Amino acid sequence: MKLRDKVAVITGGAGGMGKATVLRFLAEGARVVIADFNAESGAATLAEVAAAGFGGAARFIKVDVAKETDVAAMIDCARSEFGQLDIVFNNAGVGGAIGPVWDLEEEEWDYTFDVLVKGVFFGIKHATRLFRRQGHGGVIVNTASVAGISGGCGPLAYSAAKAAVINMTRAAAAQLAPQRIRVNAICPGFILTGLTRSNQVSMEEAGRHLDGLQPWPEHGTGADIAGTCLFLASDDSRFVNGEAIVVDGALTAIGPDVWERFGIPREAVMQRSRMNKGTTGEANTTRPVNS
Ligand SMILES: NC(=O)c1ccc[n+]([C@@H]2O[C@H](COP(=O)([O-])OP(=O)(O)OC[C@H]3O[C@@H](n4cnc5c(N)ncnc54)[C@H](O)[C@@H]3O)[C@@H](O)[C@H]2O)c1
Repeated sequence: MKLRDKVAVITGGAGGMGKATVLRFLAEGARVVIADFNAESGAATLAEVAAAGFGGAARFIKVDVAKETDVAAMIDCARSEFGQLDIVFNNAGVGGAIGPVWDLEEEEWDYTFDVLVKGVFFGIKHATRLFRRQGHGGVIVNTASVAGISGGCGPLAYSAAKAAVINMTRAAAAQLAPQRIRVNAICPGFILTGLTRSNQVSMEEAGRHLDGLQPWPEHGTGADIAGTCLFLASDDSRFVNGEAIVVDGALTAIGPDVWERFGIPREAVMQRSRMNKGTTGEANTTRPVNS
């Protein structure tokens, strides 16, 4: 068990990838504070945790990560309930403002940044205060997004906010490394959760839709993020710091995908091996693909 004797706080822990991480961390021996705005899904998550046999190792606290007093209380909950804090996963999030830039209202922008950026800042700030008092370091993982490293993966305000999370992660890692506090980020691609499912379709249907979005044949799941978070939270990643790990089934690796844009399907590109000799005056060649 990789997290035996560890205590973690997970924001957005009552939904999607946060809940998957709660369940994985509990299975790895951690005690977990589940922090979420949605008290109804919080109660359901606690029931699920109890049914899995981990009831005594989890607590729920209703939190708005955009409110500093809530975040301070959340961090204090780990100390008062379990006596210590070792890991904070700043993961809570929303889609925020969606639409053309000329139509974005100030309060829509502020809501997006309050939850996605200020929430992570508060999480880092208050975790660090306790880590410093405890005196033996700690681990912080922030959920960013592939939208934070490209312009075509999400709404404008969301993309700006997630880019801020990535660089806040780097800056915090640089500041806190001397105190053995590691700070890393995860950049998920499209992961099947309540956030990526439109209300009109079932989870199965939403999953089938997401299957085709990236080169990897199947869509991402909360368990994929939980596994990455476990690596970043455990001592296996002792020397990984200030990193933003992309977990997207090669969605961003494929970049602008020019073949598709030129109308040439990916499969067709795989059916011919060619040598292009450019403008050297030598002939180009084509041969069958060896299996
Ligand atoms: N699902 C994806 O494809 C995807 C991709 C990239 C990044 N992300 C990011 O991953 C994180 C988790 O998203 P998810 O897909 O699991 O979504 P989700 O909606 O399934 O879960 C998010 C949870 O965060 C909680 N939350 C929202 N606002 C909050 C607030 N102000 N305070 C406390 N809790 C709050 C919600 O109640 C919910 O339980 C988010 O930061 C999201 O931006 C998701």
